[in-house]
Amino acid sequence: MANEKLNIGIILGSTREGRVSPQVGEWVKEIADKRGDANYEIVDIADFQLPFLGTTDGKEPGIAAWNEKLAELDGFVFIVQEYNHSITGALKNALDFAREAWNNKAAGIVSYGSTGGARAAEHLRGIMGELMIADVRVHPTLSLFTDFENYTTFKPADLHLDNVNAMLDQTIAWSGALKTLRK
Ligand SMILES: Cc1cc2nc3c(=O)[nH]c(=O)nc-3n(C[C@H](O)[C@H](O)[C@H](O)COP(=O)(O)O)c2cc1C
Repeated sequence: MANEKLNIGIILGSTREGRVSPQVGEWVKEIADKRGDANYEIVDIADFQLPFLGTTDGKEPGIAAWNEKLAELDGFVFIVQEYNHSITGALKNALDFAREAWNNKAAGIVSYGSTGGARAAEHLRGIMGELMIADVRVHPTLSLFTDFENYTTFKPADLHLDNVNAMLDQTIAWSGALKTLRK
């Protein structure tokens, strides 16, 4: 249906005990929900209990569930944290576990780290090229030093709000445009 709202997944890129990504993801979702322009949902990689790619027979239910979830989505916002100047192993593994379900969709990035997670985000952009995910330009970068208390409690500076909305504007526009290619 032409007027159906797009489905946008806010993907949490970290899975470790004590991670801060749920706080960042909920903040993005709260901003996004106020817009009312799409159906936004948090997609937590940890919920799918994906094995490490290639180490099993590939029949774990989480693998199919992961692909089904991605197939429902028209676009993504990746919550990206910097681990050793790149994305987490968990996010790379999850990216590798699907192919067609990523293709011809759009994505924005919200990243964090000591330098705003910029190095991890740029690595993700390279990976998205191969997966045919169109990554938008506007990219909110959060600092572990100034947007978190004690590196654990998320207290984002007000200045990020406009950037998150601008990133969502671009993600929604491209997600809608690319949906026409998948019909
Ligand atoms: C294994 C590991 C490597 C890290 N490497 C970097 C790094 O290279 N650059 C950086 O800015 N922060 C680095 N950090 C700090 C993380 O960005 C920070 O702990 C962040 O909160 C991790 O996200 P999470 O809490 O969602 O797991 C690293 C953290 C871990 C656990």
